[in-house]
This record gives sequence, structure tokens and C-alpha cells, in this order.
Amino acid sequence: MSRYTITTALPYANGPLHIGHLAGVYIPADVYARFLRRNKHDVLLIGGSDEHGIPITIRAKKEGITPQGVVDRYHELMKQTFIELGISYDNYSRTTAPIHIKTAQDFFLKLYHDGKFIEKETEQYFDEKAKEFLADRYIVGICPKCGNNNAYGDQCEKCGTTLSPDELINPHSMLSGEKPILKKTKHWYLSLNEYQDFISEWILKGHKKDWKPNVYGQVKSWLEEGLKPRAMTRDLDWGVPVPLKDEKGKVLYVWFDAPIGYISSTKEWAEREGKDWKPYWQDSSTKLVHFIAKDNIVFHCIIFPAMLKAHGDYILPDNVPANEFLNLENEKISTSRNWAVWAHEYLHDFPGKQDSLRYTLLANAPESKDNNFTWKDFQTKNNSELVGIFGNFINRVSVLINKYYEGIIPEVSENFHSHELDSLSKISAEISLYLSKYEFRNGLSSLMNLARLGNKFLQEQEPWKKVKEDPEKVKETLYVSAQIAAYLGELSEPFLPFTSKKIMEGLNLTYNSWKELEANKILLPSGSKINLIPLLFDKIDDKEIDYQIEKLENSKKQNENINNNYEAPKESINFDEFEKIDLRIGTILEAKKVEKADKLLQFKVDTGVDIRTIVSGIAESFSPEELVGKQVTVLLNLAPRKIRGIESQGMLLLTQRKDGKFSFITPDDDKIDNGSTVK
Ligand code: 2FM
Ligand code: ZN
Repeated sequence: MSRYTITTALPYANGPLHIGHLAGVYIPADVYARFLRRNKHDVLLIGGSDEHGIPITIRAKKEGITPQGVVDRYHELMKQTFIELGISYDNYSRTTAPIHIKTAQDFFLKLYHDGKFIEKETEQYFDEKAKEFLADRYIVGICPKCGNNNAYGDQCEKCGTTLSPDELINPHSMLSGEKPILKKTKHWYLSLNEYQDFISEWILKGHKKDWKPNVYGQVKSWLEEGLKPRAMTRDLDWGVPVPLKDEKGKVLYVWFDAPIGYISSTKEWAEREGKDWKPYWQDSSTKLVHFIAKDNIVFHCIIFPAMLKAHGDYILPDNVPANEFLNLENEKISTSRNWAVWAHEYLHDFPGKQDSLRYTLLANAPESKDNNFTWKDFQTKNNSELVGIFGNFINRVSVLINKYYEGIIPEVSENFHSHELDSLSKISAEISLYLSKYEFRNGLSSLMNLARLGNKFLQEQEPWKKVKEDPEKVKETLYVSAQIAAYLGELSEPFLPFTSKKIMEGLNLTYNSWKELEANKILLPSGSKINLIPLLFDKIDDKEIDYQIEKLENSKKQNENINNNYEAPKESINFDEFEKIDLRIGTILEAKKVEKADKLLQFKVDTGVDIRTIVSGIAESFSPEELVGKQVTVLLNLAPRKIRGIESQGMLLLTQRKDGKFSFITPDDDKIDNGSTVK
């Protein structure tokens, strides 16, 4: 027996869970934990909500409520969803829990007192009006790559480019709209570079070659780039406060506090159960396994291990079986576009059908590459595989044994032997091996093969035809079928726990260790009594599937409307404010491309008042030549600003068409003098 600590990525409590979360992390982790429990290991499945970080504060700002209000709502919803889906957590905690705050602060202090941090003063963006340092996400501006007006300081979501705030054109704070300034601030950095050799030894040269190739590959490329010191604190007012006197307004970096959440959740469990948490994190024989999705690899394979190593008291992960992403109807799942199947809505729309979802998500788990969920496939898997094969077999066995023998498993000769009986131990061992290697899809497919084998056997033997002329043969057939059904009950438990329970209850069985299954134990000896098992699955009809597809199509339409619609009206201004804007008619004298900037054009414009240079991000809509001589509207009194080193002295007024191309605001009369005002 071994001890296992199994953790699941703590989901941000900023929205409900969707099928991508479930397929990538939570269902595989649950299967693994249940499998180990069936093998009598000492298993702890740990989870909780990640309640800090920018995703939470952004959501709070959007909804106009406090961050605490956001996390309270979604923590409860996620916890309930996990319970209903049968995710067998030993503990599900949250990172605003006092035990977590203390654990994270103690961890920080240990590293601090052991001299593991470097204290560094750097310049960071600051919003003078809101009096807050700005996370990169809070700075928006024009993407230098694609011209998107709403690119974030860390990423442009339109073209996917990773950015830093100083690359944005016209950066401004999301909080006040002001241009951020750079201001000095102090933070504590973990010198990841000092752990470069250790991580390289441990993962690359160590025995971690059996880690999944996607995980191993990402670690390798991070190491090849060279690890750099990373700040473990932030200037924010939402998070775990930095536990140092005189350091107000600083919190722990969310990726410092969140993985410590695994430890605090373990402590919470231990306190409740009167157990000791330490062996699960500090005994070198314990196997620590982190279930995550691919976007979390660096944090679990480099940063958290470096933290654990720096602390010194902890074990390191034995494996990090990270999954790829699940798509929905061939498109990326997106919370903001509402392109998702929300787990709580599924549970509402398909009551009692948890295992149908677990089955489909496991069969399509994105284990080695991104995978896809479609409602039609879900329907087929439910109707053809679960109803048609698995459920059908169990149902026939229970009906026939009840009909012919009043539910008593028939007698067979003492040395009765069959090829089907032999295959039971083989399939058990096969499923065990797959699950031990985190190959959940293969494990599930072996389970279905056992159900197929059962169906085929019944079909070939046709006991319903032979019951009169060859009763001895029929006894054997149903004896064998009963054993297959019992093994299906046992072996389906990690994958389909609700179904498994119904089978086991129906067969009056309690769970055995899988070691016994691998030793070919007869689970239902002659003379055992079984009940009539109610139907395990029922068909999902087209109407239900059409409704779900329509729901998705509606969110697509809604998104198109949002995209087609005009921007939300801005706050009203008074006439004096409007009067401050100086708009003039001018003529473009020269136009040329700005070197090394695909989107930018540089103009010389006669404004009537003067001749000035203006830079504009419209190179994709026009070629420079066609614009010379064109009359345009100029915003004359916009403060000059540098764009790619060129001082732009004003702005040309444009509007953007649906296809993204720009169009000038031009007088509809060509006899306008340059310098005429626009009122
Ligand atoms: O990516 C995420 O959703 C993070 N909240 C995962 C955190 S995992 C762990 F470190 F807690
Ligand atoms: Zn972009």
C-alpha cells in the first residue's frame, strides 16, 4: 500500500465550471483517486477554489460587486457542482480560508527568514488618479501587431500576441482611463535561476522521462530559455497580505499562494478528521500527483517545486499528468463568448445523467492533443454505447437470471471453465495498467470491451432459445454472464461511479480489491441472490440535443450582435467640454508607411493652421498613394504623442466598418477650405 496526495488545479472562483475544466482536470483526477482507493492505497484527493488574483478583481469590477462577493458566489457553485458530479474530494477548500492565509504567510516567512528572496526595487505602472499600481491586465491600449484598440498589457486577445505594457500604443489604465506612470516599488523575488540546475537534474536528467511528452517538452523549453528571478509579491489590495510589518498594500503573488492552497486544504482535512497532514506532504514515500491543464505546467513543474525546494520540508511531485484543451463543436471554449457547456446547467438539463457526461468527457479526454466535444457525439455515446451496449448487457443478465432462476445464480459443475471467465482477470489487469499510466481513455475503452464481450457472448449463446432443450448450457451461460456483470460493476467504479453503485447494489455485492479481480475471483458464486436491476441509462432524444445546440447558436448570435453593435454610449459631457475639442478640415499632402510597423501610416497634413505630422494605424485599409490630396477631419488639439519614435501631432477622424476596414470622415463637398472648423 502506498500513500498518494492527489491535487487538482484550484479553479478561479470567477465563473462557473465548464466541460473543458471537467475533461482536462477534475474527472481524470477523480478516476485516478477512485482507482487507487479500489486498490486499497491511502489516497487524499485535494481541491479548492482559487479566490485571489486578477481574474477575480476583474470580475468584481465588471459586476460592480466586491471580490469577496464574487468568490462567495462561485466557490459555492463550484463546490456543489463537483459534489453532484461525483468528484470524490476528501477536502474542497478555498484560498480565502483563514487556515490558508496562515499557511501561505508562514511559507512566505520561512523563505524570507531563510534568505531565499531577493528584495528588489523596480519601476511599475501606477495609476495616479486611482492611486493603485496596475497589473498588466489593467493596462489597455492599441495592439502594435493588429491594431486592436482593446489589447491588454499582457496579451492582445484578438491576435493572441503576448505583450508587455510598454509595447502598447496609447496605453491607459482600465481603472481611470489615465495614462499610467512608472513608479518605484519594492518586491520579493524568488531566484528561479538558482534552481535551474536542480530542476534540470530532477526532471530532465532524472527519472521523469515517463512524464507526458507535453509536460516534459514545456519544462525543457523553459529551462533552455533560462529561468529568471520572479516576483512573489504584488501591489494589490486583494490577496494574502504580505506578512511583514510596514508593508501595507502588498499581497502574495497569486501563483505563490494558490499551490500552497493544496497544503492548506490538506491541513483543513486533517483537522476535521483528526489526522496528521504531514505525511501527505513531507514523507518521502508519498506520491504527490498534480492534475492540471497545459496552461499550468510551468507553475507546477518549475515555480511550485522551486518554492517547495526552497522551503526544504516538502516532497516534490511524482508526476504532473497535464492535459491539453477540450474544444466545443470544433471551436475553442470561451467564457467571455459564452461558448461553453456549463456543468451546473448540464446537471439541471440532464438530471441523473452524470455518468453520461463523465463517460463522454473521458472518452474524448484531451490526453495527448486538443480534443472535441459535440452534442451529437454525446448523444451517440449515450444511446449507442451506454444504453445499447453497457446498460443493455446488465439489464439482460439481471432479467434472465430473475426470470429463469428467481434471481439465484445457477449451479455449474465444479471444474467448469470458460474462455470468458479467464478474460476477466486479464481485462482487470489491463484497466489497472492503463489507469496507473494515466491513460484514462484506454482504460475506459477496455471497460467497454468487457461489456461488448458480454453482449456478444449472450448473443452467441442465445439462452432464451435454449432454455428448454439445453438447461445445463443456459445455466453456464448465465453463470458466466453474471460474473461479467459483477466485474463491470467493480471495474466501472472509477469511471461511472453512480452506475457502478447501482450495479453493485443490484447484485448484492460490496467492492473488492482489484488485486482480487486480477486473481480471477468469482464474485457471484452459485447460490448468490441478485435483484432485478433498474435500467441504468436511457436514451437521449433529438429534441434534447437540438435544444442544447440551439442554446449554443443563441450565444453565437448574441456575440455577433455584440460585435456588430455600436460601442456602448459614453458618459455625457457638457457643451463647454465639447467646445474644447478643436476639429478642422485638412488635406493630406504626403502619406507613407512607417518602417517595421505593419499597421501604421505617417501623414503630412495641411490643417489650414499649419502643416503637421500625424501617425495613424490604418495601413491595412489604404495604400498611401490613394490618400494624397484627400480632405479629412483632423483633431487639432490632441496633445502630441510619440508613436514608434515619430511625434504624432493630432488625429485623423475615421470610422471602422464591419469588415474591420477604416473609412475617413470627409466633407461631402470638395470646396471646403483647409482650417474650416467642424461644429
Ligand atoms: O489556471 C487557473 O485556473 C488557476 N486558478 C489554477 C491554480 S492551480 C494551483 F496552483 F492552485
Ligand atoms: Zn493584436
